[in-house]
Amino acid sequence: MQICRTIQEIRTFVAKRRTGGQTVGLVPTMGYFHQGHLSLMQEAKKSCQSVVVSLFVNPLQFGPKEDFAQYPRDFDRDCAMAEAVGVDAIFVPSDREMYPEGFCTHVEVTGITGKLCGQSRPGHFRGVTTVVSKLFNIVTPDKAFFGQKDAQQAMVIQRMAADLNMGLEIIILPTVREEDGLAMSSRNVYLDQTQRQNATVLYRSLCTFRDAIDHGERNTESLRRLITDMIATTPGADIDYVEILSVPNLEPLVLLQGKVIAALAVRFGKTRLIDNIIVEV
Ligand code: PAJ
Repeated sequence: MQICRTIQEIRTFVAKRRTGGQTVGLVPTMGYFHQGHLSLMQEAKKSCQSVVVSLFVNPLQFGPKEDFAQYPRDFDRDCAMAEAVGVDAIFVPSDREMYPEGFCTHVEVTGITGKLCGQSRPGHFRGVTTVVSKLFNIVTPDKAFFGQKDAQQAMVIQRMAADLNMGLEIIILPTVREEDGLAMSSRNVYLDQTQRQNATVLYRSLCTFRDAIDHGERNTESLRRLITDMIATTPGADIDYVEILSVPNLEPLVLLQGKVIAALAVRFGKTRLIDNIIVEV
């Protein structure tokens, strides 16, 4: 596996692979890999001849009071894990490489970025779409792979790629979970033992939501209350939002029909966790 630290190095790597007629897949990440990240890499390996993983903790998508400085990092472990699943190159630029002095261009998707995480993390999605556009321009992949775990992010990126005719395929893959249902996240390491245990309520509440729909419940507010009640009665859980919206436009629902998402963000101490489930009604 080749380690590329500069834009020039990764461009040269991709150009060589393309000359050999290979297709290129990109998996953008912020590192501290878990099975969720690895599942994207494995899927990329299946459908692309060369797979590039980017590892960059993007300062632009963190708010001033967020965990940019504390974000978990372990480059050697990440390299070993990526290599073990057959990743061909890892692109690890410095902050300066991505945002040299004078950098002042941003990519912004409007509308759907104002909902859910966009409300509690102003500027977050602008940071995401800006860095992902740069990565697409640098790597020029045929396909890029994202996780359903960050459902709103995936929708925003799909919208951006379509609106700006980026000419690549965006692939969204299912959320990988721990055995007890907690969605894998690099941030789970912040949780102490009690918080880790209590955090299992998130997925349980989403399953209860799905089961209630299966049993015929169609009242959006009742369904929302079903989720919030389960979480609010869990010690240490502090709800940021619980919402039930249409997919992919994230509109409020009067009638529960078509594809709907239940999305939530909940704090346990200082750790903010997100999860979601999409149900076809
Ligand atoms: P990061 O949180 O490292 O996630 C990288 C990719 O892994 C994202 O597409 C995310 O949705 C996916 N992922 C995370 N946890 C997952 C899980 N449990 N199951 C399946 N996929 C999972 O998301 C980012 O980084 C950044 O915002 C990024 C897109 C790299 C831009 O900086």
